[in-house]
Amino acid sequence: MRASGKKGKGGQSFGILILAAGKGTRMRSDLPKVLHPICGRPMIHYILRIANALKPAGIGVVVGHKGDEVRKCIQSSAKAWGISRPITFIKQQEPTGSGAAVLGALPFLKKFQTALVTCGDAPLITFDTLFAMLNHHRVQKGQVTILTARVRDPKGYGRILRSPVGEVLRIVEEAHASAKEAAINEVNSGTYIFEVSLLMSAVKKLTPQGAKKEFYLTDCLEHVRHEGGRAGGFLSPKSEEGYGINTRVQLAQAQRILNRRMLERLMISGVTVEDPATTYVDADVEIGQDSVILPGTILRGKTKIGKDCVIGPYAMLEDAAVGNGCTVAISSVRDSKILEKSAVGPFANIRPGTSAGPRAKIGNFSEVKASRIGYGSKVSHLSYVGDSEIAEDVNIGAGTITCNYDGKNKHKTVIGAKAFIGSNTNLVAPVRVGRGAVVGAGSTITEDVPDGNLAIARSRQVNKARR
Ligand code: UD1
Ligand code: CA
Repeated sequence: MRASGKKGKGGQSFGILILAAGKGTRMRSDLPKVLHPICGRPMIHYILRIANALKPAGIGVVVGHKGDEVRKCIQSSAKAWGISRPITFIKQQEPTGSGAAVLGALPFLKKFQTALVTCGDAPLITFDTLFAMLNHHRVQKGQVTILTARVRDPKGYGRILRSPVGEVLRIVEEAHASAKEAAINEVNSGTYIFEVSLLMSAVKKLTPQGAKKEFYLTDCLEHVRHEGGRAGGFLSPKSEEGYGINTRVQLAQAQRILNRRMLERLMISGVTVEDPATTYVDADVEIGQDSVILPGTILRGKTKIGKDCVIGPYAMLEDAAVGNGCTVAISSVRDSKILEKSAVGPFANIRPGTSAGPRAKIGNFSEVKASRIGYGSKVSHLSYVGDSEIAEDVNIGAGTITCNYDGKNKHKTVIGAKAFIGSNTNLVAPVRVGRGAVVGAGSTITEDVPDGNLAIARSRQVNKARR
């Protein structure tokens, strides 16, 4: 289907409206519902990304409850999310229902001939389904097409009432459903395609319903039908696509499904995921071919892993860049670079601002912060390296500590290439150890060590005969 196109009345133009003004009461949260993160991205990002990919002439977002927060989040992230289409924000003053939200958005909608209306709390809908639904809508020449889903437990959803020939007659909200209607397991996903002229007249006829006196968008169908229009259902291929997130239980379910999709995408691209049930990846994680992800691994943010790596078990990487052929076992790596053929862990803590490798080793119980560990250098055991510049082929002995903090300020430690730092050394920063220098085990180094020198800074051993 030609999605975008000529603007204005009577043209082929099509716009998308995303409803996101609801209070999200059932989340019991200070954070607006659509900003709750799923796989590292706010819930609303998923539908926005798909909306953008459908190439509409415009995207409108109805915001209300904490609307400024929602708007600011979208505006500041749109570029990072790859959203290029213009977004119009429409303020809904009071959360008086999905119908009221659309009524307020009519000035935006009337620019288009056809409108896809969807919800900010539906992160599991896929591009393929909406694309197929748009085609279906066009082919059927239906005036309203509703995305439906067949679910095992229809609780909480509007039920789809069909005529014997399959036309959608009505959508009955749960609160108003008879026992027989409540037993229907085809539900409304909250996504619709309308011919705008019909939507405009139908939405103006809505009347408040239920104890909360809400205007239900779903009631539009009856008005459309009264005016001779038709409503058709488009059944989503997978029931999960119809899920709306109203509670944190549903949030966790959506997270599990999206996580599974991300992992499947990675597996299909050539990554081995040994145990998808205990592996978690955020939306934009990238992993190269023939890398193996072992159980208990969490990959967050913009983490990018190269080819032929083994990550895990029990590794947590956030905004990490890992080169080809690296291993990271039972360790945490945040906002750092691990370059080619380096090994991290087990039990290493790599804190922000670190760059290690190529061919570096950071071993068990070592913590590295805001430091550069050069080519082939090793921090194999029980060390703390902070605010340091370590050149290539340096060996940091077990138990070495860079004393970078004097209680007020942080200072730098610089170690030249091929230096050897004996075990249990304290390097009191600011301090510099020269190229090829050797520091005796157990030293406390407070002064610079020139290139090639041996520094021993500990009291000499005294052996005394015992009586
Ligand atoms: C709605 C549908 C229901 C469907 C379900 C799918 C109605 C009346 N019911 O129920 O048939 O099965 O979605 O998930 O639409 N919103 C506003 N302004 C408001 C109220 C809501 O913008 O004043 C937005 C919400 O932010 C949300 C969407 O509309 O994105 C749906 O509202 P919600 O309260 O979640 O409706 P449901 O009870 O889930
Ligand atoms: Ca909902």
